[in-house]
Amino acid sequence: MSFATALRCRKCGQEYPLQPQSLCNFCLSPLEVTYDYQAMAKAVTRDKIAGGPRSMWRYRDLLPVESEAVDIGAGLTPLVKADNLGRELGLDQLYIKNDCLNPSYSFKDRAVAVAIAKAREFGLDTIACASTGNLAASAAAHAAKADMKAYVFVPADVEPGKLIGAAIYKPVLVSVNGNYDDVNRLCAEVARRYKWGFININLRPYYAEGSKTLGYEVVEQLGWRAPDCIVCPAASGLLFTRVGKALDEFSMLGLTDPVNTRLFVSQAAGSAPIANAFLAGSQHIHPVKPDTLVRSIAIGNPADGYYALRVARQSGGGAGTVTDEEAIAGVKLLAQTEGIFAEAAGGVVIGVLKKLAAAEVIKRDAVTVALITGAGPRTQEILSSVVQPITVQPNLQSLEEALGVVA
Ligand SMILES: Cc1ncc(COP(=O)(O)O)c(C=O)c1O
Ligand SMILES: [Zn+2]
Repeated sequence: MSFATALRCRKCGQEYPLQPQSLCNFCLSPLEVTYDYQAMAKAVTRDKIAGGPRSMWRYRDLLPVESEAVDIGAGLTPLVKADNLGRELGLDQLYIKNDCLNPSYSFKDRAVAVAIAKAREFGLDTIACASTGNLAASAAAHAAKADMKAYVFVPADVEPGKLIGAAIYKPVLVSVNGNYDDVNRLCAEVARRYKWGFININLRPYYAEGSKTLGYEVVEQLGWRAPDCIVCPAASGLLFTRVGKALDEFSMLGLTDPVNTRLFVSQAAGSAPIANAFLAGSQHIHPVKPDTLVRSIAIGNPADGYYALRVARQSGGGAGTVTDEEAIAGVKLLAQTEGIFAEAAGGVVIGVLKKLAAAEVIKRDAVTVALITGAGPRTQEILSSVVQPITVQPNLQSLEEALGVVA
């Protein structure tokens, strides 16, 4: 049994039963899962969570799932104290949340695990999604485990490694001639016609709830303490808002002291509608046409942009952008200081963190967590310049000559 009670409109408060629906019929604003927090508070304790499964399902009481989980092992990824990187950036208490280590190599496994469980509860036999790559892989992997059909839609220019990363699970893979926002529009039409569970359309409220577990884990792994600052990548802005919700829920349930975490959005400069609005002091998100090699977070018209902006402001946090070159430098810096190979979205986080630390927006002694949400090996082509081997003949003399070693 879960403590979820309804879907509620984030704008007008209209409530709906827990069903496959993501927008309010009256004002077209996003719906969000609400819970009976009083009952939840009686059931949830630190000890109960700590004694739970070694996966995201240790937070099951805070999720809207009634049925058996579709569990491919998502969550409980390492929170690593990043002293080497911290030294480079001038941060004494820096941590990396390494969500590259999820089964399909990104944080999306958290969100999909919840969405697909709900799809099954709703009696749907087919799931689908619009994706910049990572969601497609995760949806297809979970569909394989759940023995469901999957249709995944991606922009035609998605990286080859991301295509293989989805295709290996044998979904119907649809490559759309257009960017992510075009893919999303097509999927909205498809969703109206076919009775499928669209992970980021009619199942979006449940998908969103799964993302919260990233925030819960950070707090639990810090010893039930919310950090002072979190730097998070944003595409649609959903993850960012749900990290905020996770912290609020933990404090509301008495699992932590009141939370004062400052939340910072990071985006690539070529696709930064949320960060740009923050930096311009605007209340409105102006859609952009993405132009960046950081494809996984290249969403020009972010569905949760407005709410992400609000979370950044209300938390006393902020926003930042980096160029593609700075993002790649961020990927290298993280790999070469901490041994963690992230995709370019992780480079964006590190690049933005570097700027925030240099400007002392994030202070040296702040407990700071950088969320690294996707792994590097599937998008290697952007890093081909790092490969500069020393070529030698298979003998010691050749090696020593090449290394300049004097015998
Ligand atoms: C690696 C990675 N990080 C972060 C995000 C951001 O997700 P959201 O749409 O919730 O902002 C994505 C989205 O695709 C992603 O692939
Ligand atoms: Zn409404």
